Amino acid sequence: MIKPHGGDILKPLFVEDSEERNRLIEESASLPDLLLNSAAAANAVMLGAGYFSPLDGYMNLADTLSVAENMKTNNGLFWPVPCVNRTDDISRIEGSSVIALRDPNVTGNPVLAIQNIEAIETLDVEKINHITKQIFGTLDIDHPGVKTFKNSGKYLISGPIRVLNYSYFKSEFSDTFRTAMEIRNQIQKNNWKTVVAFQTRNPMHRAHEELCKIAKDSVNADGILIHMLLGKLKPGDIPADIRNAAIRKMVELYFPKNTVMVTGYGFDMLYAGPREAVLHAVFRQNAGCTHLIVGRDHAGVGDYYGPFEAQTIFDSNDVLDALDIEIFKADHTAYSKKLNKVVMFRDVPDHTKEDFVMLSGTRVREILSAGKDLPVEFARPEVAKILMSYYQQEGSQ
Ligand code: ADX
Repeated sequence: MIKPHGGDILKPLFVEDSEERNRLIEESASLPDLLLNSAAAANAVMLGAGYFSPLDGYMNLADTLSVAENMKTNNGLFWPVPCVNRTDDISRIEGSSVIALRDPNVTGNPVLAIQNIEAIETLDVEKINHITKQIFGTLDIDHPGVKTFKNSGKYLISGPIRVLNYSYFKSEFSDTFRTAMEIRNQIQKNNWKTVVAFQTRNPMHRAHEELCKIAKDSVNADGILIHMLLGKLKPGDIPADIRNAAIRKMVELYFPKNTVMVTGYGFDMLYAGPREAVLHAVFRQNAGCTHLIVGRDHAGVGDYYGPFEAQTIFDSNDVLDALDIEIFKADHTAYSKKLNKVVMFRDVPDHTKEDFVMLSGTRVREILSAGKDLPVEFARPEVAKILMSYYQQEGSQ
């Protein structure tokens, strides 16, 4: 099986031993505590679940800068996006060496993890801007990821963590949330040797369905891992439970049995385009996948990134040398009216734009909100039905 990133064994930071975990939960009640922001909580969940192996916790300033600038920690570990814990208020934890990290996304703010503090460093505005620019390629506050990142706090609290639970992901998405260890185990059980991962934060329409099938055939894979983001999104994106139901319906009806695992991971969307695509590749390798599909405008938002920038970043030697997972680079995909099937643009050079059935996200929303049907060439009717009832409920509120 493909090795995890940066080592031979996966290093999840969740405390598996239940006695030890209960002891830490008890101990954490009397520790100084910090209420995490959602991004840091999501990092803890990813560290706990083994997706961010081999990191052992939150990065310090030197590593944060080095990762932002060169996609490498100071030890030389390849890593594309800083994994940080930031806050504006250190009054409750100053001078402490061990602290409890409280979950901002669960009622009552239970302890999510315990952190050993190695350093508390200050990020001035200049540094925050520098790091933001390196990761997102822009400082525009209208970019949802930039807005969150810039406002995440001026103190950087670094050090190793031990994770005590998986936040709201395990309870809210019990059928879908899976750790990297669980996915690896399932892949092994299925006896799959070649596995194509599909990242998504959207419902899947015919283009996405076909993209998965084309990628699977083209690399001769045994199976597909549909791996959806379950964390926070920008306003207007479809909530995870609706998307999950729509994706499950599509898989049930339109994929051969036992060829797809529908799963999800607990992370907030960064919308960091190319850098996020590389992070996606790192954690799909950790989950045991041999390939990741990267298509058009992967992890993008607005017009901040070129449509294939998230593919070209994988051409650099640093990235190529660091990763074992391979990228299936997909061209723009859509239904061809000429051929009556979904195709990739690069495979049909004789086509013009008018030959395809293409709808923008806004148009899809308009059609469904008005209770009208989407073209069957664009979306499976059973999928469209689930989305339509969501939009109509939204509209009535
Ligand atoms: S993402 O932010 O998670 O990347 P989305 O769920 O929309 O967004 O896309 C999932 C994957 O499908 C990404 O790799 C994206 O590049 C790819 N993709 C989506 N739509 C198309 C399309 N029409 N043609 C080619 N690739 C696409």
